[in-house]
Formats: sequence, structure tokens, C-alpha cells
Amino acid sequence: MSRTVVVLNGPNLNLLGLREPEIYGRVSLEDIKAATRARAKTHGLEADFRQSNDEGELVTAIQGARTSAAGIIINAAAYTHTSVAILDALLASDLPVIEVHLSNIYKREEFRHHSYVSRAATGVICGFGAHGYELAVDAMANILVSRKTK
Ligand code: DQA
Repeated sequence: MSRTVVVLNGPNLNLLGLREPEIYGRVSLEDIKAATRARAKTHGLEADFRQSNDEGELVTAIQGARTSAAGIIINAAAYTHTSVAILDALLASDLPVIEVHLSNIYKREEFRHHSYVSRAATGVICGFGAHGYELAVDAMANILVSRKTK
């Protein structure tokens, strides 16, 4: 089994640290990448961490993960609330999916309460800021161990 977990980040997350820090915090995506990779390593996993502002590029990355990765962690950002294409790609991947959001989307505007991604996700981690990515890696490691022992 692949030991790679693809960690996908959607539009505007490249601006983390600068963008609405009162909502998203002051940690940069580069810092989150380093913490996520380090956390993955403690579980013997490798985090292939990516960001794109482009919906099609995210779909292509999910399709690539289908044959090369053990699982997908995704913060689809605004596409969470709009993208049937990302949902369909996740469903087609046949991989465990964990959805992450830095903010608690249920505490925010109504339009953020609906997530297409959730229909494909084993679970959702939101509201814990950058730490959510590490929590997601722990959850993914747990899923992969229990799958292996089945
Ligand atoms: C987000 C929440 C989304 O509603 C928003 O569009 C984002 C970031 C989060 O991580 O809290 O860009 O996914």
C-alpha cells in the first residue's frame, strides 16, 4: 500500500497569514506544510502537500491520487461550497477522504454551511486553525491502520 497522503489546498489558501488573519490566523501555508509533513512522518507516512487556485487542477490532482496515494486530506476552500466536479473526483478516487477547514464554517455565513466535499469525506475537521491539518493526519493514519488490519 502507498504511504503517501495527498494534502490538497484550494483557492486563496496561498495567502494564509496575510488573508483575514482574524479568521484564518497568522500561520502561513508553508508553515502548515512543514507541520503536516512532520506529523505524517511520525506515522510513517509522506504528505504530498499542494495548493492550487484552479478547480481543474485540483480535480486532476485528485485523479492522480486515485492510483498513487493511500488517502486524501482536502481543504477545498471556497470550492467546498460550489464544486460538484471536486466532489465527483473524490467519489471516483475510492480513497479515504478527510475534509479540513481552518475556520468553523458552521459559525460563519449561511452559504459556508453546505459542503459538497462532505458527501465524499469520512470526517470533517474544522475550527481548529492550522492544527486541524495535524489532526487530519492523525485521523488518516488511524483509518489506514484499521484498513490494513481488516
Ligand atoms: C476555508 C473556509 C471556506 O469557507 C473559505 O472559502 C476558505 C477557507 C477554511 O479553511 O476555513 O477559503 O476552507
